[in-house]
Amino acid sequence: MNLDRWPHWVSDDGAITLINADCLALLSDMEACTVDALITDPPYCSGGYMEAQKNTKAQGLRGATVSAEDFKWFTSDNMGTSGLVWMLREMMVQCHRILKPNRSAFVFTDWRMIPNVAPALESGGMRYRNMIVWDKGNAGLGVGFKPAHEIIMEFCNGSTEYQCKDGQNVLRSARLYGPAKVHGAQKPVEVIAELIRVSTPIGGTVLDAFGGSGTTAVAASGLGRRAMVCERDPGYFEIAKTRIQKELDQRNGTGPLIKATLWEAAT
Ligand SMILES: C[S@@+](CC[C@H](N)C(=O)[O-])C[C@H]1O[C@@H](n2cnc3c(N)ncnc32)[C@H](O)[C@@H]1O
Repeated sequence: MNLDRWPHWVSDDGAITLINADCLALLSDMEACTVDALITDPPYCSGGYMEAQKNTKAQGLRGATVSAEDFKWFTSDNMGTSGLVWMLREMMVQCHRILKPNRSAFVFTDWRMIPNVAPALESGGMRYRNMIVWDKGNAGLGVGFKPAHEIIMEFCNGSTEYQCKDGQNVLRSARLYGPAKVHGAQKPVEVIAELIRVSTPIGGTVLDAFGGSGTTAVAASGLGRRAMVCERDPGYFEIAKTRIQKELDQRNGTGPLIKATLWEAAT
């Protein structure tokens, strides 16, 4: 792969590579069988940032019902459902090629989009293996059964080889608030760290095609894994670079980043 085609940043120890590119262009340039896990959080395109917006715009997006003005918060979240389905299938065709055999791909979504995106992702060549729930503990805004979870779909490339036997398909971690949140769709480091711990060998490489603020890189680095993270928006690329460097600096000489992990809390 010729990284010089895109703006990029590599951590001093060479373990983290962050690339400012469209993921479909980047993935098609990557070599086959080089990655140990895909952990990625694409735009959900399910109708807006706030739950109230999603409820008024029906399931998924139909191009004519939304305008770019409604969705300024990050790239591609204003796509219609067919655009998302096309993009995710293309991503998965490449990931199937790039992943080593017997490895997993984890893709975040919300309940609305599973019927649309799960078949598209599976058609990329990997088997739909599990549905993992991120339980946020407290419900968000809304009425009736207020939303308190998001979904992580797992796909496998052959018969999965896990790194431990104590993984569970409900991951409990509070939603993020406050100054630590530098991206509107940022996920907790602990949730992504648990996916890495169970799926990826120490020293292995995790790929994130929709990197946002770089949470996957922070989690991978804290667990002694390598990360290749792609983000299309130049602003978020810079935010991720600053965040990852800051985390690495703080960690210098003080041990692993991930201290209060989900599995430690559960035992
Ligand atoms: C849901 S956010 C990821 C948030 C991330 N998990 C975090 O914790 O910060 C999705 C990201 O994908 C980026 N994106 C959208 N389309 C993309 C594409 N085609 N290639 C690469 N990145 C893309 C958006 O700019 C956005 O930052």
